[in-house]
Amino acid sequence: MSEPPWWKTSVVYQIYPRSFCDTNGDGVGDLAGIRRHLDHLEWLGVDAIWLSPFYRSPMADFGYDISDYCDVDPLFGTLADFDALVEDAHDRGIRIIVDWVPNHTSDQHPWFVESRSGRDNPRRDWYLWRDPAPGGGPPNNWVAAFTGGPAWTYDDATGQYYLHSFLPAQPDLNWANPEVVEAMHDVLRFWLDRGVDGFRVDVVHLIGKAPDLPDDPEEYLPIPHSGLNHRPETHELLRGLRRLLDSYPGDRMMVGEVYLLDTTMVATYYGSGDELHLAFNFPPLYTPWDAERWRSQIEIVSRELDPIGAWPTWVLSNHDNKRHRTRYGGSEARARAAAVLLLGLRGTPFLYAGEELGLEDAVVPDDRVVDPGGRDGCRAPIPWEPAPPHGWAGADPWLPWPPEPGTRNVVSEREDPASILHLYRRLLAARRRSPSLREGDLSLIDAPPGVLAWRRAHQSGDERVLIVNFSAERVTMPPSGLSGLVEVASDGSGEGALFTGEVGPDQALLIDPGATAS
Ligand code: GLC
Repeated sequence: MSEPPWWKTSVVYQIYPRSFCDTNGDGVGDLAGIRRHLDHLEWLGVDAIWLSPFYRSPMADFGYDISDYCDVDPLFGTLADFDALVEDAHDRGIRIIVDWVPNHTSDQHPWFVESRSGRDNPRRDWYLWRDPAPGGGPPNNWVAAFTGGPAWTYDDATGQYYLHSFLPAQPDLNWANPEVVEAMHDVLRFWLDRGVDGFRVDVVHLIGKAPDLPDDPEEYLPIPHSGLNHRPETHELLRGLRRLLDSYPGDRMMVGEVYLLDTTMVATYYGSGDELHLAFNFPPLYTPWDAERWRSQIEIVSRELDPIGAWPTWVLSNHDNKRHRTRYGGSEARARAAAVLLLGLRGTPFLYAGEELGLEDAVVPDDRVVDPGGRDGCRAPIPWEPAPPHGWAGADPWLPWPPEPGTRNVVSEREDPASILHLYRRLLAARRRSPSLREGDLSLIDAPPGVLAWRRAHQSGDERVLIVNFSAERVTMPPSGLSGLVEVASDGSGEGALFTGEVGPDQALLIDPGATAS
């Protein structure tokens, strides 16, 4: 039996650096703050960390607008801080994945400053410049994310429009230009040479563009990220990126943000094992807390990915969406059951920092709203200690605290073995022990309405059964001969005891069918 690559069996923990921990008193988290808390992440049991952007940036989109891909923004520290973080993480067996934003730069990036400086500039064609439409106005009808306005901004000095799929401060690069491809490959080499284990690739489905940039059909217009962005050019570019990663030793990985809300399309970005290693698949993230809807998502993922040998990913929360506890109505019992769901499915799970504390979104008053996309609530700072300033360096953080920081913080929850934090830790430990949880097959099994149950099975004979009760009723599982010990219970009850067949409201169980009471 050959060992699967690390990115199949890992649990990845996403850190939004601005919000993790501030050590220098400017109210914004930094790389030193991440390094300070590696002990905690090792204790929790995560295998890899994905860092949202920490590069030089004017912060129009809080770092997803990059003005230098090969340096750390002074707000977050220095390249030396980054190297120290990688070294300390690797010493603990934790891998580092960095965010890479290939579709657009900042309008302050020297490449764009040059490109904008004149029609004859050698970098003019590094971005997408077009003449106004024949009757005047933008060259086509594309709509920008965040603003909902045209995806084109007119440049008075040179009399042309440039394309920006997001803010005007985020001009799209022209990946049809081989010099752009080469420059961006150099960026990857820069970080690969520094020892990163992989990349999370921002809106990667957007990099290939139809050469003539045709109008979108009217019916798609309210959806800037529709299947219209599904281009053959992107797949060719991905194969080039994959060849680059594969030329490095040590299983370097890329997980792509393929923001197409259709799993059939997402599946194509794995190529035939020669494009992305992993792709985010967001339909489950947008699925409400409902057993039938989740069953269908699990079936769709198996149907689309299994036949092509593609390995799934699962995400409930990230820096772009309301936290799942908040989305599912705020109940901690549900957030706990969701943890069992996320960590029991077949695929690589991505945790978003703070979900292991059961954090909800912060309530952000109007005068503290800073994000053009309205995503501040899920980006609230992580509380480390019960007393203000909650383990931050003193200044008021850039966003308000999430609810109940006095109890919902790392120190308080570590002291309480019944906390959701300890539940996550037990689930992560269970995954490490069980090859079936890490890499086994998944088959759904019979369960009452409102309940999802599935079996994970590994060729070694190792097996686990998971049961998630999405309903508010106590249920009894069908008498199918399912027995074994409760290894983890979302509410902690009955762990180590024989499974009784009963599952409580909003309860989820991990059962080891092979274990017998001692
Ligand atoms: C991705 C990021 C998001 C960012 C956008 C533009 O969707 O996750 O945070 O605003 O790309 O880069």
